[in-house]
Amino acid sequence: MTWPYFPFFVRVADLEVLLVGGGEVALRKARLLNKAGARVAVVSEAVHPGFDEIDSVRVIGRQFKVEQLDGVRLCIAATDDAALNRTVAAACEARGIWVNVVDDPLASRIITPAIIDRSPILIAIGSAGQAPVLARRLRERLEGLIPQGYGRLARFIGAVRERLKGQVTPDDARRLWEAFLDGPGAEAALQGDTATAQAAVDDWLAGNPSRRGEVWLVGAGPGDPDLLTFKALRLMQSCDVVLFDRLIPDAIMDLVRRDSERVFVGKKRDQHTVPQEEINAELLRRAQAGQRVLRLKGGDPFIFGRGGEEIEPLARAGVPFQVVPGITAASGCAAYAGIPLTHRDHAQTCLFVTGHARADGQLSLPWDTLARRGQTVVVYMGLATLATLCAAFRGHGLPDDWPCAMVENGTLASQRVVTGTLADLPQRVTDAGLSGPSLLIVGTVVRLHRTLGIVTAPGMS
Ligand SMILES: C[S@@+](CC[C@H](N)C(=O)[O-])C[C@H]1O[C@@H](n2cnc3c(N)ncnc32)[C@H](O)[C@@H]1O
Repeated sequence: MTWPYFPFFVRVADLEVLLVGGGEVALRKARLLNKAGARVAVVSEAVHPGFDEIDSVRVIGRQFKVEQLDGVRLCIAATDDAALNRTVAAACEARGIWVNVVDDPLASRIITPAIIDRSPILIAIGSAGQAPVLARRLRERLEGLIPQGYGRLARFIGAVRERLKGQVTPDDARRLWEAFLDGPGAEAALQGDTATAQAAVDDWLAGNPSRRGEVWLVGAGPGDPDLLTFKALRLMQSCDVVLFDRLIPDAIMDLVRRDSERVFVGKKRDQHTVPQEEINAELLRRAQAGQRVLRLKGGDPFIFGRGGEEIEPLARAGVPFQVVPGITAASGCAAYAGIPLTHRDHAQTCLFVTGHARADGQLSLPWDTLARRGQTVVVYMGLATLATLCAAFRGHGLPDDWPCAMVENGTLASQRVVTGTLADLPQRVTDAGLSGPSLLIVGTVVRLHRTLGIVTAPGMS
């Protein structure tokens, strides 16, 4: 199929552009032209007040006249009068001036694309005017895939290329940038760490390509893959090896780079968790061997995730690391179960605590702070100690009929919510046979589940 248009970028800095129209559509065009440095002359009966905020705009008349095209190289007709727009287009064609008519590709010599802006990287998507909504959809999808830091990365590469001009052959320059983009320097430049990025370039030039490893401690959220952050996804797709635990569902593991090595550190076959010291040592060893190590954790690494313990040895050894927050189980379960954790009429405070018992079987929790009205308490790892927890809440002053809920496998298709009171929830949970990862929510916000607990997770019924 032949192309209906030839795509290219035009330098409009200091170019005189005529914009016929002064409404909202024209205003959007004026803003874009201003971004690119054009001088914009506006012709319109009425001009949107937003034009006042654009420096490069001058209003030169109320009615379109052919003489206004003198000295103009580019024109945009954006009035709501189709006949006037066509008159402007015809006048431009007659004078060899490039013209765009909004929503009228047939009258346009040029059309404007949907734009993804990671300046200096600009991605333009066009549909030859046939399906602009589809082009915008595509833009939305790509927006999520292209990190905001791409602009920083491109500027870094641009600056170094300028400095290296004449010092390396074009072939070497290409090899350098290919190696750079596959290595740790690119990730550093994306983050704005130009010193590390520059070190990667210097190492390559010295014939010693960087083998610098690093660790990415990434929160994978509570289970639904749609709750991953863009950054988590990007690092998942760039790692050499992933160390993951029991809470990471297959649907999320499927998104990790296919040829990365996978190391399961959740439970061994004998059902013993890999000791924390072994995980810490493994992260350090692999990063020091030059690997980009993804440590993928359920929820948020810094909320009952031992994230601090895992990065301390790295920090001590000077191994670079990044921590990427994830949606913690409390936020995920609350949202998908329709239980707001705070609510003006119910809870002004929300506390996250662990229900994990100490080696002596005791819970060490600040009960006087927890057993209060007007707040929500979320208990992680409280399934095994549920009866003890509920008894302690009652023993410290909350009534027997105080609402509470257990959410199992929150945000997954298998999510189950069991509601009850401090007096009867343990039995209800036993009757329901909950055994997966479960979160206890205590407080009158649980009453809202009845009205807000609509089906939100994929496949949930
Ligand atoms: C070791 S903690 C890890 C918490 C994690 N770092 C976070 O921010 O969600 C594990 C506990 O989190 C809770 N949990 C994690 N994912 C869950 C889910 N999808 N549904 C319910 N509870 C969950 C359970 O209480 C589980 O025992």
